[in-house]
Amino acid sequence: MKIGIMGAMIEEIEPILSNLDNHPPFSSLDYILQNLNQLRVHNIANNRYFEAKYKGCDLVVAYSKIGKVYASLTASVLIQHFNIDYLLFSGVAGALREDLKIGDLICATKLCQHDLDITAFGHPYGYVPEGKIFIEASKELILTAKEVAKEKKVELKEGIIATGDQFIADPKRKEWIRKTFNADAIEMEGAAVAVVCDAFDIPFFILRSISDSANDEAAFDFDEFLKHSSQRSAKFIISMVDKIIDERG
Ligand code: ADE
Repeated sequence: MKIGIMGAMIEEIEPILSNLDNHPPFSSLDYILQNLNQLRVHNIANNRYFEAKYKGCDLVVAYSKIGKVYASLTASVLIQHFNIDYLLFSGVAGALREDLKIGDLICATKLCQHDLDITAFGHPYGYVPEGKIFIEASKELILTAKEVAKEKKVELKEGIIATGDQFIADPKRKEWIRKTFNADAIEMEGAAVAVVCDAFDIPFFILRSISDSANDEAAFDFDEFLKHSSQRSAKFIISMVDKIIDERG
């Protein structure tokens, strides 16, 4: 079995790589490269893929860089080149819902692209012909996540995640996305991963920990909480990997 784990930024996957090796937190990508000799590093299409054995299972970990295009590329490489069986995404998101606080964990039930707009041709927001507005994440992996949350006594929320190539720090745009898609959180990669995994029929799971509330303070909060929220998400993803290996390995 091979599991792909993706983040968008180095901060989002660094706690996963350090956890695999039981290593103290890394300060930079260079540090990882110099100190993790049991990781095989592959350079493909201008990106690095870290391959590791973990409890007898093959893992491939990568950060895509920010945004839908880079995320699609990385998800495609994980699937087509590395032949992964599952894709788990770990990272941070902006909250659209009042009850989502900084550090909270939310997994996507389904995802959409809030910036996909050919409404000029009479189509709804987020839709292009032969596509779908919402793509559902793997129900099986969501069930696994719920079991992990129960065992670890961690609160895991669920909801609709809206993705777009914009960092949202504007109450008006935030409200528009919330209303138009009934979305609960926003980020910049999840729906791209969803489109690719759906097309290749690979079960996927998108987990986010809240870093900000997409309002006027969002940029400040993001910088302040990126590391902590990334660590919360990463820790949960590692527990999910453990559970998947226990149950299906
Ligand atoms: N990821 C984390 N916070 C975000 C925000 N406010 N907008 C888009 N992506 C995000």
